[in-house]
Amino acid sequence: HGTSKVNDKGHLEIGGVDTVDLANKYGTPLYIYDVELIRNRARGFKQTFDDLGIKAQVAYASKAFSTVAMIQLVEQEGLSLDVVSGGELYTALAAEFPVDRIHFHGNNKSREELEMALTNNIGCIVVDNFHEIHLLEEIADSLNKKVKILLRVTPGIEAHTHDYILTGQEDSKFGFDLQNGQAEKALKLAIESNNLDVLGIHCHIGSQIFDTTGFILAAQKIFTKLNDWKTALSYEPRVLNLGGGFGIRYTDNDEPLSPDKYVKEIINEVKKQAENYQMNMPEIWIEPGRSLVGDSGTTIYKIGSSKEVPDVRKYLAIDGGMSDNIRPALYQANYEAVLANRVLEQPEETVSIAGKCCESGDMLIWDLPLPRAGSDDLLAVFCTGAYGYSMANNYNRIPRPPVVFVESGSTTLVVRRETFEDMVRLDLPINERVKN
Ligand code: LLP
Repeated sequence: HGTSKVNDKGHLEIGGVDTVDLANKYGTPLYIYDVELIRNRARGFKQTFDDLGIKAQVAYASKAFSTVAMIQLVEQEGLSLDVVSGGELYTALAAEFPVDRIHFHGNNKSREELEMALTNNIGCIVVDNFHEIHLLEEIADSLNKKVKILLRVTPGIEAHTHDYILTGQEDSKFGFDLQNGQAEKALKLAIESNNLDVLGIHCHIGSQIFDTTGFILAAQKIFTKLNDWKTALSYEPRVLNLGGGFGIRYTDNDEPLSPDKYVKEIINEVKKQAENYQMNMPEIWIEPGRSLVGDSGTTIYKIGSSKEVPDVRKYLAIDGGMSDNIRPALYQANYEAVLANRVLEQPEETVSIAGKCCESGDMLIWDLPLPRAGSDDLLAVFCTGAYGYSMANNYNRIPRPPVVFVESGSTTLVVRRETFEDMVRLDLPINERVKN
């Protein structure tokens, strides 16, 4: 997919660059991003809205992969940006992303985070709960500002995905419940506030979703309420943000729609609902994370040790694991992989790929067909672009791998490899404490 192909040495090539050369130069593990593919995904989403003649903002959910270079790329492609913490906001500001196109999410934004958002004049705060309404109002008042907000509602939808990444169901930590009057109460409070400008409504039903049933149901439930609010509160939203969550294909078992199909089917329903209730078509915002960057990322590892469990299985161990990709351990996520240095060779055996962390659960891939591979072969794991680097950690004090961007034959190092010095950078010796 993307610009990936096999070159005449039988090596995996991405963005016109030989991944074996990249592994030799930058070491392993190494995250490689296919920049052209990210650009195409970004342009695809925008094109779909243009074709439909719909006013829209496509906000990249930066939690999927947030670094200065990535955010600069998002800016180059003219998307908006969704951040969920002071740290993600700081990264966006460091990348000099236009503040009016930043949207700030989160179910427990601190006073400091909200102040940071307001003093930097960011475009919109997605308000999650009553505590936040009061806090935001107080801060906005003290800074003498009027803040644009969306209200996040929970429509009571169960999208079919892993329990930990479900968010639209009633029993969720996110948002105002749409059904039990919470959302209406919040809307009333916000409308009455002099410091809040309620642009509209936000809803995100989950992640890695393979069809539009959940989105359509959510839109229907929201419009039923919007119709009530039109009468009861004379309120009509200017913006409807339907979140992210569009699924991608990690393995052959995944059957997502194409990005434009998700958007077209959802917009179709929103149009129908707006007409049905005789409302103005709101501006539509979406927040894709995974579907913008997921399949553009590939991780290259070096194979080291192996272990046979006679008549059961063969383990091949790589030089990374749950420290650079926690998704298999956390969500039983599945991935496909090939030998980056011997792509065209036929599989001869089935092996299981073990990480190097001290946990039996640190298994990256079970039962992978591969050519007979040994130490120093390179394993390329596909579709690691979303929630790979962003959820990487230093378990076992393993330094996080570097990230390179490749495009049209050139390579840019966009995140340096962590060092052992970085592992102790924040540590203080025991005598320091004794002295105090
Ligand atoms: N908007 C909101 C409010 C969200 O909570 C999320 C993801 C997104 C947008 C982007 O969703 P996406 O398009 O990437 O599916 N760590 C998990 C995924 C957690 C998603 C959290 N929220 C994973 O690795 O699968």
